Amino acid sequence: MKKLGFAVVGLGRIGKLHAEILRFKIENAKLVAVVDVVEDLARSVAERLGVKYYTDLDKALMDSEVDAVVIATPTFLHRDMIIQSAKAGKHIFVEKPMTVTSSEARDVINAVSAAKVKLMVGYMRRFDHGYRKAKEAVERGEIGRVISFISIARDPGPPPGWAAEPSKSGGIFLDQLSHDFDIARWIVGEVSEVYVIGGNYLYEEIKQRGDLDVVSILFRFENGAQGFIQGTRRSVFGYDLRTEIYGEKGTIYIGSNIDNLYAYGSEKGVVYYGIPWFEKRFLDAYVEELKSFVDAVLNDRDPPITAVDGLRVIQIAEACWRSVKEGKPVTVPRD
Ligand SMILES: NC(=O)c1ccc[n+]([C@@H]2O[C@H](COP(=O)([O-])OP(=O)(O)OC[C@H]3O[C@@H](n4cnc5c(N)ncnc54)[C@H](O)[C@@H]3O)[C@@H](O)[C@H]2O)c1
Repeated sequence: MKKLGFAVVGLGRIGKLHAEILRFKIENAKLVAVVDVVEDLARSVAERLGVKYYTDLDKALMDSEVDAVVIATPTFLHRDMIIQSAKAGKHIFVEKPMTVTSSEARDVINAVSAAKVKLMVGYMRRFDHGYRKAKEAVERGEIGRVISFISIARDPGPPPGWAAEPSKSGGIFLDQLSHDFDIARWIVGEVSEVYVIGGNYLYEEIKQRGDLDVVSILFRFENGAQGFIQGTRRSVFGYDLRTEIYGEKGTIYIGSNIDNLYAYGSEKGVVYYGIPWFEKRFLDAYVEELKSFVDAVLNDRDPPITAVDGLRVIQIAEACWRSVKEGKPVTVPRD
């Protein structure tokens, strides 16, 4: 079978990981090149992985060995890079969130459909064992009718650099909690209304930039189920990510806030540590999501997370911002 040739664009926290996965872990993929504006970084990653490097996307798009791109640059660059890649006829795997605004998301949907290329958004939790089993159990009717969805999402620390700027990242609702919106939609259904209370409790810098660091989102699904998500930008012991799906015949629990793989016992008791952040928590899921993108392209199928999925979570995040500003429940638009 033909291998799908990739260029990974943006070699920061997540891009470097995608490049390594494509180079070593996916049979039907061939990492052709890595791209970063920081030349030393691009060169060192390329040397380590034994591939070409470029310092701008244009050059990678002219490389005939490149069939697909992974866009892992800061979110505010996604729209233009997706459109450029689509026009060059390359398939696109874009890190979440797809774009910063729903208007940009619509530009992307149009460009991808005009160019007839495939696009998948990297909501990797859908490939994690716990969330996947939960989805299957709900679909089999094991907990009966779903009545509520509850999620706690507490990052160990604040967003770094550009991601602390809401105009570049979409702020807490999009940059952090769009993962939870995606899982809520995927397992329970479309979200119709949100009501948010939020504030600044943790970081002065986040407040100065107009973002929030603790938010509580109460919401309603179109099918009548209730939802609640609390997101915070600090968890001193590690990544605290837990979800419950409560149904008329039972409850599903996903995630844990202690790392069961290591504990330290003494006469004072047993000490468990927290879960490491996303790179470790979701390593298997990052591999599986890229495998599924490669399979979709090679077998000419729709990828499992489409540009419309990308748009929907942005619409929920935008409704959350409006709710905070207006201090009342807001209907999530659907078009
Ligand atoms: N799925 C996940 O779990 C997950 C985790 C982290 C980040 N992300 C997403 O991935 C994206 C990147 O986030 P990050 O934390 O890795 O960012 P980062 O700041 O760590 O890395 C971004 C990289 O892009 C490079 N870059 C900037 N402009 C460029 C350009 N014009 N051309 C090429 N390279 C350029 C930077 O030099 C940097 O190396 C964001 O959209 C973010 O939301 C997703």
